[in-house]
Amino acid sequence: MFKQKVFSGVQPTGNLHLGNYLGAIKKFVELQKSHDCIYCVVDMHAITVWQDPAELPRATREVTSAFIACGIDPKKHIVFNQSQVSGHAELAWIFNCVARMGWLNRMTQFKEKAGKDRENASVGLYVYPNLMAADILVYRATHVPVGDDQKQHLELSRDIAQKFNNDFSASIQAHGHGEAFFPLPEPLIQGPATRVMSLRDGAKKMSKSEPSDYSRINLTDDADAIAQKIRKAKTDPEPLPSEEKGLEPRPEADNLVGIYAALADVTKADVLHEHGGAQFSVFKAALVELAVAKLGPIGAEMKRLVADPAYIDSVLADGSVRAQALAVETMQAVKDIVGFIRH
Ligand code: TYM
Repeated sequence: MFKQKVFSGVQPTGNLHLGNYLGAIKKFVELQKSHDCIYCVVDMHAITVWQDPAELPRATREVTSAFIACGIDPKKHIVFNQSQVSGHAELAWIFNCVARMGWLNRMTQFKEKAGKDRENASVGLYVYPNLMAADILVYRATHVPVGDDQKQHLELSRDIAQKFNNDFSASIQAHGHGEAFFPLPEPLIQGPATRVMSLRDGAKKMSKSEPSDYSRINLTDDADAIAQKIRKAKTDPEPLPSEEKGLEPRPEADNLVGIYAALADVTKADVLHEHGGAQFSVFKAALVELAVAKLGPIGAEMKRLVADPAYIDSVLADGSVRAQALAVETMQAVKDIVGFIRH
């Protein structure tokens, strides 16, 4: 009933890392073959925690460069920054009135990010998932590639779409949109690296905000840095198991095998079939070689693109115009459905 369409976003905050690449951006690239895709640098999400206005444009251009360096084609698909398309904020307001406090109170990411001092968190951080739902649904996107940490937010997006469709069902039909106006967007969370862990601690997610740079591989790291970080990555003293079950009690080993599998486009079972029984010194050397071969060219291309901000800005400007045209169409229909008079 809904045309298949892909939407996803990445925040321009801090360092883009291997988790962002394997959990999200690599999937964005693959989906271009089969779908119309819209990829967004979510600068409005970024400011839910303080961002230095002198730094935000650089971070926005860096994420855009990463999209292109990884293989996203901004001509065939749409690449833009969120703040340039007003429909995101407009629809988010309507969703603020659809979503329930109880739903948002369950969001674990808000609890983690707000920490103990919840009174002092921005209101934006609290309603962040409503804006995320608006990002997706302002294009009536059906599929959303993300890492595992966004699963709960995607479930909320589905709840919001469903409640909007129910609350306004008579008006949706009266305006000729059939039974449902919004699709229930499906998360695409698949493969061996949906949750890449810190290289220093197999119990923590690899993250942009972790103070130790040794915990993550940044997309801009050079070959030496990649090699050093993998060599220093925490492991245990046992050789690799031959079966996936053997990874269960060994989070650090599981993480490195998952990273290898995702970079090589194979399964964890394939990796263990080849490397089962190997000592970490040997497996890490193979992983360094693979990671440098896959990530080196991306980092080099990112550096080249970041040095050409005029080109990056032209990509964002072109994408924003095209995204705006799609969003306006949805917003006109939404305003009619909600009962706002349009002039
Ligand atoms: P963000 O910017 O934190 O992360 C971007 C993408 O990277 C994934 N990711 C990971 N995947 C695997 N392992 C990790 N360690 C890891 N760390 C991050 C994230 O799951 C995400 O897919 N709220 C979103 C951005 C957003 C969005 C949207 C996404 C805003 N609106 C609409 C989809 C649809 C976020 O903060 O991602």
